[in-house]
Amino acid sequence: MTPGTPAHASPAWTRHRDRVEGHFRPGAERWTRLTSGGPVSRIRQTVRAGRAEMRRILLDWMPDVRGLRVLDAGCGTGVLSWELARRGASVVGVDLAEELVEVARTGANAEPGPSPDTPPEFRTGDLVDTAQEGFDLIVAMDCFIHYPLRDTLAALRALDPGVSTGVLLTVAPWTPLLGIMHGIGKAFPRSDRAPGIIPVRDRRLREGLAGPWGPGSLVLDRTAVVHRGFYISRALELRKRGRLT
Ligand SMILES: C[S@@+](CC[C@H](N)C(=O)[O-])C[C@H]1O[C@@H](n2cnc3c(N)ncnc32)[C@H](O)[C@@H]1O
Repeated sequence: MTPGTPAHASPAWTRHRDRVEGHFRPGAERWTRLTSGGPVSRIRQTVRAGRAEMRRILLDWMPDVRGLRVLDAGCGTGVLSWELARRGASVVGVDLAEELVEVARTGANAEPGPSPDTPPEFRTGDLVDTAQEGFDLIVAMDCFIHYPLRDTLAALRALDPGVSTGVLLTVAPWTPLLGIMHGIGKAFPRSDRAPGIIPVRDRRLREGLAGPWGPGSLVLDRTAVVHRGFYISRALELRKRGRLT
């Protein structure tokens, strides 16, 4: 694949995306429970707390979203989509797992609060395809944590032309524990590998983003790591080159 090839035209992207879909569709009930307010194990409580903190960071980093067209890429049960809609954004939430999209549409897992004037529109599909419609802002929380860096960069290149202000995303930072777990997973035949979390070393990430395989006009502006118990994720803000806000 050359730097100009869109991710959705790449067999590597499609293969990996299909594995991610095969993981989330059967696991939809578990994911729905984790993202609800219902009881979960202590371990999952730490994940929930970490994810709530990550959501806060991403929301804090956003500009005033009133009137902006925002894509919640890999929206899951739509928690962030509903919050953005409440803040006045025109939101499209897209996810591969139709079981999660159905939950998202009901708003069952949204945080308590007033109904937005315009509810989010939810769709089942690939974020790269949906992003081609054009958005002011794209947010992808804990979606690219399941992709190798090569595929994340390919997707960001494909998002770049269609987004006007920037992209907020999270990746899994490399830690010795995640590195070992990923290494053990790699011992399985490729077809049996679950698309677990794929850690990325910070240096490789920065080099990739700034290099010829990176998203040409999206520039890394800031990063923050959230580590709570069993949850660890790194937020990245990519801003459109030349934009001040
Ligand atoms: C860990 S969940 C996070 C969901 C949501 N962003 C959140 O933070 O609650 C990752 C989600 O990304 C979705 N996903 C992964 N790759 C995708 C793709 N290429 N297009 C659309 N959704 C995708 C998965 O189906 C899954 O629901």
